[in-house]
Amino acid sequence: MVAPLRIRVYGDPVLRRVAEEVTDVDGAMVELCEEMLTAMYDAPGIGLAAPQVGVSQRFFVYDFGEGPGVLVNPEITESDGEWTYNEGCLSVPELSWEIVRPRRIHLRGYDLHGNELSIEAKDLEARLFQHELDHLAGKILLDYLDDDQRRAAKRILRERAMSGPSRPPRAGDGLSLP
Ligand code: NI
Repeated sequence: MVAPLRIRVYGDPVLRRVAEEVTDVDGAMVELCEEMLTAMYDAPGIGLAAPQVGVSQRFFVYDFGEGPGVLVNPEITESDGEWTYNEGCLSVPELSWEIVRPRRIHLRGYDLHGNELSIEAKDLEARLFQHELDHLAGKILLDYLDDDQRRAAKRILRERAMSGPSRPPRAGDGLSLP
């Protein structure tokens, strides 16, 4: 039996690395995507990027309610509008903030079979994709906060790291984003 993937949390340097282009989708990567989906659903979350499981490569898995998907080497080619939403991240567990992002995006990428995808996304789907793209660029939610918010978040995360990993989940976790 395969050990479940461990989702990396804030402080792990892999979350700050710029992920590398995927040059070849092999069986191991397909299997990893399946394991990532399992970890994502277990969390629960609606997206999980490869760096969040320690793999610094440009792909992520997601399911915002319409079934599982994988996007390989994704790129946002256009964005417009503005939308504020209370956004969380599995790598910064149990915290969330009002984050402003474009409401609509056009995204290009590939699926696991190498088919080129061109996706117009808005609202939650667009937000999810932008959030995952950030992970591939080594960016995390804390980068969007003002100084006071960031200080408060870091204090909570520090206290948490000292009190150990086992904490009961709080209500509302299921609503938070990847
Ligand atoms: Ni995230």
